Amino acid sequence: MTLSDDSDFVTLPAEQPFFETLYTVAPLVIVGTRDPDGSENLAPKHMAMPLGWSDYFGFVCTPEHGTYQNAERTGTFTVSYPRPDDLLNASLAAAPRDAEGSKPTISEVDTVDADIVGDPAVVGAYGILECELERIVDGFDGAELVTGEIVGKHVHTDAYRSDDTEPEALLEEAPLLAHLYPDRYAEVSETHAFPFPEGFQR
Ligand SMILES: Cc1cc2nc3c(=O)[nH]c(=O)nc-3n(C[C@H](O)[C@H](O)[C@H](O)COP(=O)(O)O)c2cc1C
Repeated sequence: MTLSDDSDFVTLPAEQPFFETLYTVAPLVIVGTRDPDGSENLAPKHMAMPLGWSDYFGFVCTPEHGTYQNAERTGTFTVSYPRPDDLLNASLAAAPRDAEGSKPTISEVDTVDADIVGDPAVVGAYGILECELERIVDGFDGAELVTGEIVGKHVHTDAYRSDDTEPEALLEEAPLLAHLYPDRYAEVSETHAFPFPEGFQR
């Protein structure tokens, strides 16, 4: 028996998009860049993740987006992790640009300039990265992987994992935002310790 014989699964035709057919969990970050006139730009990204265990981060973006063009031109970007209460910021940052090519909705989002790269980051985010463009990897059918080296890191005090904080209490106090692609989100506050196997090492 193979998977397509298993009546518990619907085997999709090649042209049917997998990720539109079920819900999957993704992070949700807001990438901050500067438009050519120096104004602030913010855009939510769910295809976004650390690359390895040290200081690299990447997100998938289309070359048509201002974020991609800004990061390529300036060589920098920020990454803000918004809280569930600030979901509206992510939504406003996804609004279409007007006829002049600007995105007026983001004036509603409180921002702060990043120390090193100078790009805007979202006030109140529970974690903020400052990145210098490392390289852009193309070849994913119109989507490209924009990667950066992390040169600045900021963790909000209420999300900071110290030795004397209980993880359960920390996450209840400062819940995480998860994107359930394509059209839902979740607030993650009730969590459990991961049952690592004995002898597990990273
Ligand atoms: C929840 C959510 C997640 C998104 N994730 C991505 C993503 O991972 N990559 C991407 O290229 N666009 C993504 N988008 C779309 C862009 O954020 C959106 O088109 C934005 O307006 C682009 O702005 P820009 O032209 O300033 O870059 C997402 C939109 C939403 C609402």
